[in-house]
Amino acid sequence: MSDSGSPAKIPVITIDGPSGSGKGTISLRLARQLGLHFLDSGALYRVLALAARQANIDLQDEAALAALAGELDVSFPAGDACEGKIMLSGQDVSRDIRSETCGNDASRVAALRSVRSALLDRQRSFRQPPGLVADGRDMGTVVFPDALVKVFLTASPEERANRRYNQLKEKGISANLESLVNEVAERDHRDSTRALSPLRPADDAHILDTSHLDIEQSLDRVLAWVAPALKL
Ligand code: C5P
Repeated sequence: MSDSGSPAKIPVITIDGPSGSGKGTISLRLARQLGLHFLDSGALYRVLALAARQANIDLQDEAALAALAGELDVSFPAGDACEGKIMLSGQDVSRDIRSETCGNDASRVAALRSVRSALLDRQRSFRQPPGLVADGRDMGTVVFPDALVKVFLTASPEERANRRYNQLKEKGISANLESLVNEVAERDHRDSTRALSPLRPADDAHILDTSHLDIEQSLDRVLAWVAPALKL
């Protein structure tokens, strides 16, 4: 393998933050614009939670969940999640994994040590030339600590719940804003207080509050950090 193909030399851009911070859309747009691979690490935890439900595995049964994580037959047909399609054992689960229930289940299984370590190599295998944009909670702190550029996106809980509310409304799904605010707060609390890989910015991350920015403005700010690092 050439030197530029060795994993340590393949550039990784990490975009971490809570849900509703805009990181999913911004990471995907960034990956497409730069022609890089894309890892939606949250999707892996969501698929695991869905597979566990399908197999009637208790969401507290760490050993069974870790075994399932190790053998999970998950694939991103386009080679990565850029096209947004996610298959579990040959079945398209792209829509199913986006439910609130699946998100909450994912956050529960993600708190378990053996589950996180079972998914580590799988996440790192997405680091392929010409480079990777990795979206998650611990991309810059744990999975790719040597990333070229680390970004941490935030937004107020009210703004994030509002965004979620509008997304659901657009899809024709009814939702209650007040309960979304509570769910967002509950998930944040669980993700940021857990002992393992808690949601927090890496020491060397650029922090961007997107509460008052739209996607274009946020993307511009992120590109201003990424472009010089990639020598674009
Ligand atoms: O980003 P998304 O909402 O799809 O993630 C679902 C859940 O998976 C999060 O609430 C979090 O608990 C977990 N997760 C994680 N580490 C990641 C990505 C997601 O713990 N890198």
